[in-house]
Amino acid sequence: MSEAKRKLRIALVGVGFGAEFAPIYNAHPDVEWVALSDSNTEKLAAAGARFGIERSYPGLEAVLADPDVDAVHLVTPIPLHAEQAIRVLEAGKHCACTVPMATSFADIRRIIAAQRKSGKNYMMMETAAYTREFLMVEDHYLRGDFGTISFARGSHMQDMEGWPDYWMGLPPHHYMTHAIAPVLKLLGERVAKVHCFGSGRLPEERQRRYGNPFPVETAIFRLANSPVAVEVTRSLFQTVRPYSEAFSIYGDKLGFEWQQIEEEDPLIFSMPQAAFSRGRKIHHEIVTPPDRQDLLPPEIAPFTKRSVFSDGKHLSFVQGGGHSGSHPHLVHEFVRSTVEGRSPAIDVVTAANWTAPGIAAHESAMQDGAAVEIPDFSI
Ligand SMILES: NC(=O)c1ccc[n+]([C@@H]2O[C@H](COP(=O)([O-])OP(=O)(O)OC[C@H]3O[C@@H](n4cnc5c(N)ncnc54)[C@H](O)[C@@H]3O)[C@@H](O)[C@H]2O)c1
Repeated sequence: MSEAKRKLRIALVGVGFGAEFAPIYNAHPDVEWVALSDSNTEKLAAAGARFGIERSYPGLEAVLADPDVDAVHLVTPIPLHAEQAIRVLEAGKHCACTVPMATSFADIRRIIAAQRKSGKNYMMMETAAYTREFLMVEDHYLRGDFGTISFARGSHMQDMEGWPDYWMGLPPHHYMTHAIAPVLKLLGERVAKVHCFGSGRLPEERQRRYGNPFPVETAIFRLANSPVAVEVTRSLFQTVRPYSEAFSIYGDKLGFEWQQIEEEDPLIFSMPQAAFSRGRKIHHEIVTPPDRQDLLPPEIAPFTKRSVFSDGKHLSFVQGGGHSGSHPHLVHEFVRSTVEGRSPAIDVVTAANWTAPGIAAHESAMQDGAAVEIPDFSI
C-alpha cells in the first residue's frame, strides 16, 4: 500500500503537555496507532496507563530506529526542538513539533534544509492558530467584515516561576509565536523588520544561562508587504498578571479585542456607517466564539472541550484552558496533510516566518531597540 493511502503510525515524544495529544491521535480515524516516548520512565508509564496506550519507546533514539514509525510529534523542552526535528526528518519520518521551531536563524535554516532534503512533512503545532477565538476572527476577516486593517497587537504574559529549568532566564521573545502567529496567519504576511526593547532586569544569577537580562520584551514589527505594524509584548517573570495568550486586530469597519482575563469572552467593536457629525459612537459586543467541532471528524470533535480529558491537570493545559479547543484541529491538520501527501497549513516556511520575528526581536532588545531585519525563508 502506498504511504499516502495507509493509516499513520505516530510516536508522541515528551509526555508532559504532550500527553494531552495522545487520546486525540488514538481516536483519529487515519491513525493506525500512537506510541508514547519519554526519557522519564515514570512519566512514560503513567501516561501509558492514563490513556491505555501500550506501545512505548524510552526516548527519541528508539523511536527513530523503528522503521514502523511514520511520524513523530515532538513536545520536548525548547532547547531540544531544532536538533530533534532535524534528526526526525533525517530519519525519513514526518515531523510535528511544538513551538517554537528553533531559537536561532541558523537552526531555522537547518530545519528547512532537512525538510527539503527529506521531502517529509514538517508542521509547527501552533495552538494559537486554531483557537475558537482565532477561527471566529478568521471567518470575519475572510468575509471582509474588518474593512481595511490598520493595526494589530499580540501579547503573551505568563509567570514561569517554578517551571522546568530551561525556562529560567529564557529571552521572552524566544517563545512568542502564540502572540504573533494569529496576526500573520490572518494577513498572510511575514515580518520584515523589528524594533524591540527589553524591560525590567532579571537577577544576575538568572541571566547566566541565556545571557538575557530581561524578564519582559516589547516589540513593534514592520510587515513585509503591508502597511500594518504589529506590537507584541511577552513577559515571563517579575510581572504580576494572570496568564494570557492574546491577540487583537483592528480595521476601519470592525475591531476584535481579546478578553482581559482568559475566563471571559472577547469583544467585537463595530461602527454605524450612517452620516455623522463628530465623535462617532463605536459599539461593543461581548461574543462567545463558537466551538468549531464541525471542522473535525466526529471521532475527535469532542476533544475541543476540556471535559473529555481524563484529568487535564497539566499546567499548560489548565492555564491555557485547553488552548481554546485547538489541539484536535492541530492533530487533524498534521495527520490529514501527511495522509493526503500535501504540505501542512503550518509548513516549514510558515513556521520559520512565525518563529524568526521573536529571535530578531530579542536581538534588537540586546541592541537597545536597533532595527533587525528578518530574512525571507522561502528563498
Ligand atoms: N500552547 C502550546 O503550544 C504549548 C504549551 C505548553 C508547552 N509547549 C511546548 O511544549 C514543550 C513541552 O512542555 P512541557 O510543559 O510538557 O515541558 P516539560 O519539560 O514538563 O516536559 C517535557 C518532557 O519531554 C521529556 N523529554 C526530554 N527529552 C526527551 C527525549 N530526548 N526523548 C523523550 N522525551 C524527552 C521530558 O522527560 C519531559 O517529560 C515546551 O517546552 C514548549 O515548547 C507548547
